[in-house]
Amino acid sequence: MRPLASRMAVMSGEGALSVFAHARELEQQGRSIIHLELGEPDFHPAEPVIDAVQKALKEGKDRYCPVAGVAALREELADYLLRTRNLNILPESVVIAPGCKIALFLALMALVEPGDEVLFPEPGFPGYSSITLGLGGVPVPFELAERNHFQPDPDEIAAKITPRTKILITNSPGNPTGTVYTGEVQRRIAELAVKHDLYVLSDEIYARIIYGSNYVSMLSYPGMEERTLIIDGFSKSFAMTGWRLGYTIAPTHIVPALVMLAINSYTCVAEFTQYAAIEALRDRVQATPRMVREFARRREQFVRDLNRVRGFRCASPEGAFYTWVNVSDTGTSAEEICRIMLEEAGVAAIPGAAFGLSGKDFVRFSFASSTATLQEAVERILSVSSAWQGTLARS
Ligand SMILES: Cc1ncc(COP(=O)(O)O)c(C=O)c1O
Repeated sequence: MRPLASRMAVMSGEGALSVFAHARELEQQGRSIIHLELGEPDFHPAEPVIDAVQKALKEGKDRYCPVAGVAALREELADYLLRTRNLNILPESVVIAPGCKIALFLALMALVEPGDEVLFPEPGFPGYSSITLGLGGVPVPFELAERNHFQPDPDEIAAKITPRTKILITNSPGNPTGTVYTGEVQRRIAELAVKHDLYVLSDEIYARIIYGSNYVSMLSYPGMEERTLIIDGFSKSFAMTGWRLGYTIAPTHIVPALVMLAINSYTCVAEFTQYAAIEALRDRVQATPRMVREFARRREQFVRDLNRVRGFRCASPEGAFYTWVNVSDTGTSAEEICRIMLEEAGVAAIPGAAFGLSGKDFVRFSFASSTATLQEAVERILSVSSAWQGTLARS
């Protein structure tokens, strides 16, 4: 047989999905597993969204539809982003995609030439480097260091910009650290982007899941309109992971390229889900704020409890629904901690190296589970924590 395309050797999978597969195997053997590995809200879409998808199907909205998305949804998104992010965007700048990941993939495909350098946050979403490599680009990580409260360091970014740098990826709030970039960091990143004529790919999938002040998008800064692509979607903010619904907000000169790539790949997103998405955005029942209030309660409890585990240390995330726990004081590798937690205590979490090498001393737990489940998870972890000889971290 002739070999696969060489890009297949440089792309990589996702830690979350492989831990999930292993955890499912153990479950099938009859083990009780608490799943804290996947980034998936334990909520379901609000009732009006379910009603809307059923109505759309009954009305026959199950045909091929416009490639960039149905007009009503693109218009609704412009209203939604004005309401929730104070952004003035045109409906024509919206391209609907089957999930954020494919939106990210196609945005990079539209921009990356072989050899182009793509700056991205590390630890970070694994797709940033994998997709870049698959397209022949060069992923260049900038570190989100604990000593810097996991904020990007604009000086480090500036030092890593070369004539080949074309794209800078931001992700605020970030997966896996939960960091919300400060205004000062975002302002300085925007200045660098303008100065060096970079595109900024702003992954805003967690923008609605924040525990502090109002969200400020990278698109809001001077000079960013013509160079920012926002990636966002319905998976996290509206608990619609399995619906596969996302979107890109792109400068109008890039939209035709994204449409071309959509024509060559998914053609259009299911029409009935797009109509239901309009209802999700209107959120008449305030499902998103209610979900975020519940995440805030869980965050408080889980962070407090995890800091009671010998050798674990974590700060309270400012956004998203992950705790990013430094386990170096356990004297045991994050991989081994995760193995013990899964195999001996039935708690699934992800070793931090899955988010890049600089994550090697960390473990990511999702707290998108009930407070009772999170409490039981910590009790189970405590029951096996004698396996490591850590010092007791202070909260
Ligand atoms: C930072 C980040 N970007 C993109 C995605 C992909 O989202 P979707 O499920 O909509 O494809 C995820 C999912 O976990 C994520 O954490």
